[in-house]
Amino acid sequence: MPNAPQSADLLITGVAEVVSPCGTSALGGSALESKIQSGHAVAVRGREIVAVAPEDQLLEEWSAEQVIDGAGGILVPGFVDSHTHPIFFGTREEEFEMRVAGRSYVEISRAGGGILSSIRGVREASREELLGRLLQRLDRFLELGTTTIEAKTGYGLTTADELKCLEVLAEANRLHDVELVPTFLGAHDFPPEYRERHEEYVTLLIEEMLPQVAESGLAEYCDIFTESHVFGLDDSRKVMERGAELGLGVRMHVDQLTSLGGAELAAELGAASADHLECVTPTGIEALASAGVIPVLCPLVPLFLRQDEEAPAREMITAGLAPALATDFNPGSCYVQSMPEVLTWAALRYGMSASEALAAATLNAACSLGRGDRLGSIEVGKQADLALLDLPGYRHLTYEFGRNPVRVVVKGGEVVYERYDETTS
Ligand code: NIG
Ligand code: FE
Repeated sequence: MPNAPQSADLLITGVAEVVSPCGTSALGGSALESKIQSGHAVAVRGREIVAVAPEDQLLEEWSAEQVIDGAGGILVPGFVDSHTHPIFFGTREEEFEMRVAGRSYVEISRAGGGILSSIRGVREASREELLGRLLQRLDRFLELGTTTIEAKTGYGLTTADELKCLEVLAEANRLHDVELVPTFLGAHDFPPEYRERHEEYVTLLIEEMLPQVAESGLAEYCDIFTESHVFGLDDSRKVMERGAELGLGVRMHVDQLTSLGGAELAAELGAASADHLECVTPTGIEALASAGVIPVLCPLVPLFLRQDEEAPAREMITAGLAPALATDFNPGSCYVQSMPEVLTWAALRYGMSASEALAAATLNAACSLGRGDRLGSIEVGKQADLALLDLPGYRHLTYEFGRNPVRVVVKGGEVVYERYDETTS
């Protein structure tokens, strides 16, 4: 007599493939890949995945009241977007048109646009207004299959406005199904009142903002825009060392527009991530590889900025690095929330295969956020964060773009999004 099936809360059956990277550590070099399990089904109990097995076997061993029919699609881990700036008020489409007409991001920024125009919006907005906008954006992330985002502040740039943004992020984390990992980006730019007093702003960051942010417990990471027109290497070192000393993890925007050597600094500081890297040098790549820093790559940004340089992703993978992929969603340099879109551009611009790109957009991203033990893969013991996509096979992850393939999203074992489909209702 076969044993009676064990009870689960949710089964996902009828999928063509369960596609997922494996393990709890970031995958680099030739280990960067996803496992393709054809004809497999998944059982979830509480918040956790309790079985991943060939469907016949799984149905003998597990039963549940709720069963989702995958209808021949593929099941992937919920996307982890490891670099976003989601808390802003007001958009910057006129700057996009200026770039389309030939002006550069730095020119627009020097003329008082760029980050500065978003600062005005955030300072004037109330908490309720900021929260309202943020929650709408989180709905959009979820319907695009993203279940966890890293979320940066950086458009307040006073102690009070930055804390206001961190509090709004914490409130959104309580209210919404998308999991937010908060990062303090007070060093995003010099605010207007410190335009001629850069040293004083660095002092404010070190002596007031970072200590108050650390004390509040509202941020896990600190970040900085290390670039020749904003924070140079010496300032970046001082600010990030102070953040680390106060117990914050370090993420850095480096070598995005110029080859300043930010990657080498991120390596020296043992950063959790070095982000952008469009202009990183071979020495920078070597430094990141020796220090085991995760490069967070945002392939839609140079496209949106009309920048020629592209992060040398293939060279990084050959050097053994374990890249993560992200949108960099923000109102200035990338007004895009779609990880499915990022996967296609990672293939087209970086030469990443579908299997590599998915691993970078899930497990590696989760590892860069210190969550690789819990998130980023479909394996027994991991949290059930899943996206069911109406794609017939994993290669379509990169091959198809321009439409949203997400049908169902599960976060922590709960179905949190289901696409309304007229043909099935
Ligand atoms: O990641 N590089 C700095 N920060 C953003 C741009 C922010 C903005 O323009 O508002 C980025 O590209
Ligand atoms: Fe960014």
